[in-house]
Amino acid sequence: MAVLLTGGAGFIGSHTCVELLAAGRDVVVADNFSNSKPVVLDRIRKISGRDFVFYETDLRDADGLRRIFAENDIDAVIHFAGLKAVGESVAKPLYYYSHNLTVTFELCKAMREAGCGVMVFSSSATVYGQNGKMPLGEDSPLGPTTNPYGETKLMQERIITDLQRAGELRSAVLLRYFNPIGAHPSGLIGEDPNGIPNNLLPYISQVAVGKLPYVKVYGNDYPTRDGTGVRDYIHVVDLARAHLKALDYAARKSCVRAFNIGTGTGYSVLDVIKAFRDASGKKVPYRTVHRRPGDVAECYADPSLAAHELRWKAEYGLSRMCEDAYRWQSMNPRGYEEQ
Ligand code: UD1
Repeated sequence: MAVLLTGGAGFIGSHTCVELLAAGRDVVVADNFSNSKPVVLDRIRKISGRDFVFYETDLRDADGLRRIFAENDIDAVIHFAGLKAVGESVAKPLYYYSHNLTVTFELCKAMREAGCGVMVFSSSATVYGQNGKMPLGEDSPLGPTTNPYGETKLMQERIITDLQRAGELRSAVLLRYFNPIGAHPSGLIGEDPNGIPNNLLPYISQVAVGKLPYVKVYGNDYPTRDGTGVRDYIHVVDLARAHLKALDYAARKSCVRAFNIGTGTGYSVLDVIKAFRDASGKKVPYRTVHRRPGDVAECYADPSLAAHELRWKAEYGLSRMCEDAYRWQSMNPRGYEEQ
C-alpha cells in the first residue's frame, strides 16, 4: 500500500515525503514542477536512503491520474498540489479558481474510480475570517477570505467535506497550516520561491546571504507588542510530521475533520528578524514601509485539538526554525538552481 503525494516535490510535500519514507511508508509522488525542481527528488532520496515512485504530470489530466492509480496500490492521498501565490491569485483569479478546483475535481474522481477513500488536504489558516478572536480555534468563523487563493482553499475544504458526507470519501482530514518556515536539518531541502519572495522568512534568508539589500517591514503601527504583524510560525518538519499523524487518524476514523497546525505562539516581524540574526550571526537590515494590503495584525492558532485528536504537537521553536532556514539558504544560495 502506498501514499500518493500530489505536489510532493514542493516545499511542504518534499519534507512530508522524507518523513513518510523514514517511517517506512511507500510513497508515490506526482508533480509538474510548476513551483519546484526535479533535483529535489534526488535530495529526498539522499536524505532518506530510500526510493519512491515519481510521475511528472499535470493533475488536471484525468488520464494521467487514472494511470497513477492503475499502476500503484494507493490507499491514501495527501493533496498538496495547487497554486499558492496570493498576489498572483488577485491578478489572475480565473486561472487560480480553474486550476486549483480542477485538480481537486479530477483527483476526487480518480480516487472514487480507484476505490481510494482517504484524503489529507493541505489547507491554510487563510480560510478563517479576518475578525476572528485569537487564538483561532477550528470553530472560528470561516471566511470571508481576502483573495482568490484563500477562497480556493475554503472551496476545496467544502468540496472534500461534502464528498465525505456523501460517502464518496471514507475519511478526510483538513490541515490548516499557519506559517510554515524552516527547512530540513540536513540543509538539502527547503523553500525555493520563484523570483522575489512574498513571504517573510525566505525574504529574510535572502537578505542574510546578501541577495537582497534589506527587509521591508510592512507596517509598525498594528495593535501588537511592537507594532509589527504577529504570526504563528511552524517548523516545516513539525508540519510534515502532522501529516503522518493525520494519516493514522484517517485510518482509525470515518469522518471529516479540520485541525489547526501551528505552535500556538505568535511572533512579531521584529521577533523573527532578531531570531534570524541570532541564529545566523548575519546582519539583517530592515526598513519600515507601509502596511501590505490585506494583512491582519495577528494570526495564531489554538493547536489543542490536534494535540488531543491527532496526538501531534510542534517540537521546534523559532530559533531552530531560523537555524535550519539559514543552513538551507547558505548551502543553497541559488535554491535548487545548479550552483
Ligand atoms: C501569507 C498569505 C497566506 C498564506 C501564507 C503561506 C498574504 C496576505 N497571506 O500569510 O494566505 O497562506 O502566506 O505561508 O500574503 N512581512 C513583512 N515583510 C515581508 C513579508 C512579510 O513585514 O517582506 C510581514 C507581514 O506583514 C506579516 C508577516 O510578515 O505580518 C508574515 O507575512 P507572510 O510570510 O507573507 O505570511 P502571511 O501574510 O501571514
